[in-house]
Amino acid sequence: MKMEARILSYIVLWAMIVFLASASDPSPLQDFCVAVNDSKTAVFVNGKFCKDPKLATANDFFYTGFNIPRNTSNPIGSVATLVTVDVFPGLNTLGIAFARVDFARSGLNPPHTHPRGVAYAAFSSQNPGRIDIANAVFGSTPPISDDVLTKAFQVDQNVIRDLQAQFGIENN
Ligand SMILES: *[C@@H]1O[C@H](CO)[C@@H](O)[C@H](O)[C@H]1NC(C)=O
Ligand SMILES: *[C@@H]1O[C@H](CO)[C@@H](O)[C@H](O)[C@H]1NC(C)=O
Repeated sequence: MKMEARILSYIVLWAMIVFLASASDPSPLQDFCVAVNDSKTAVFVNGKFCKDPKLATANDFFYTGFNIPRNTSNPIGSVATLVTVDVFPGLNTLGIAFARVDFARSGLNPPHTHPRGVAYAAFSSQNPGRIDIANAVFGSTPPISDDVLTKAFQVDQNVIRDLQAQFGIENN
């Protein structure tokens, strides 16, 4: 009986520890599928509607402006430019996006995740999204309760208040 209780407690503990989920876009199903907004002239595949392939042009696969540095005057000292299917229709269904990060001196790209990309290949999506950890923890609406944050970070309430007051610094 004692042994069974112990095994059960291991299972419960394991279930509580293993909370990572992994999800990503399905694999590309065709060579290309240029995104269009008008559903009447389109065929739906995974992702956005596709332009008739006969009407696709070279420009659908061309993105300009990626070479232009952006303003990094913010508290983090960096700015991320994410190029996704929303601004580059040729990426539709290709399972890929790309980004440029500009850094000021001593700037950094803060810890973040790309929720629609798989964990080991963050950009494996045409629209991987971006969530900055500090913003999600200290700047969520509604806020995460003080009781939870003070205990989780082992600091007092003033420290949490300070951090909450600084949230919302987006660098993208
Ligand atoms: C599609 O619609 C969105 C939202 O209305 C708009 O922002 C975007 O520019 C449109 N894209 C194209 C390729 O027309
Ligand atoms: C960069 O952004 C900062 C803060 O918003 C602003 O004060 C500054 O004028 C901007 N610099 C340029 C070159 O746009």
